[in-house]
Amino acid sequence: MSADSGASESEFWLFGYGSLIWKPPPHFDRRIPGFVTGYVRRFWQNSQDHRGTPEAPGRVVTLIERSFWQTLEDPHPSGSEKVWGVAYRIEASKVTEVREYLDIREINGYTIHYTPFHPSDGSPTIQTLVYIGTPDNDQFMGPQDPQKLAEHIYSSIGPSGLNKDYLLHLDVALESLSAESGDEHIKDLAERVRKLERTSNIDGGQVTAQALGRETKKVSSTDEQEEMEK
Ligand code: SIN
Repeated sequence: MSADSGASESEFWLFGYGSLIWKPPPHFDRRIPGFVTGYVRRFWQNSQDHRGTPEAPGRVVTLIERSFWQTLEDPHPSGSEKVWGVAYRIEASKVTEVREYLDIREINGYTIHYTPFHPSDGSPTIQTLVYIGTPDNDQFMGPQDPQKLAEHIYSSIGPSGLNKDYLLHLDVALESLSAESGDEHIKDLAERVRKLERTSNIDGGQVTAQALGRETKKVSSTDEQEEMEK
């Protein structure tokens, strides 16, 4: 174990800040709540493979470097100093398999980065791998009007299911990590989507599904489903 880190050099740790919080990777033997700094989490990444389609992309979260985000006009002007999520340690014998799984799951514009993770119990910092959709990737959207974004999420659907379920699962999962792990951007979008659910008699993503003439899930095997779920 290195002097300034909670992990040995050979361990593989993954930081999850989106679906990875509530839909974990396979083969982890530790899961620790905590946060990273230097980023802001936003629903600014298109999803053509999980919560939308190439014809009608949904929206999922990515991390934006805080220094870059500060140069943008964001309708959600406050961004917490800490991005809360979870770190997973993957069993040593399964690292290659899990990395292949993650590369497929996060293929739609995300690239691999490394960032220090701070466990919420105050134990030493851990170097983690994180998947980020950076502003130069084709699926990056940039700032969006919160109400239009909420309506878009409400009406989108992809092979992994309704886009609104991704948002609402994330909101609930974040609240469960610690007393301070809620995220204003996520909470505001979740409240807008819950209001749409209450006031609309149409079940959001089902409309898009019908319009596209497609089924919610089109996977042919359990393995494929596990690989693709997000
Ligand atoms: C993550 O969860 O860490 C990446 C984004 C996602 O898969 O939703």
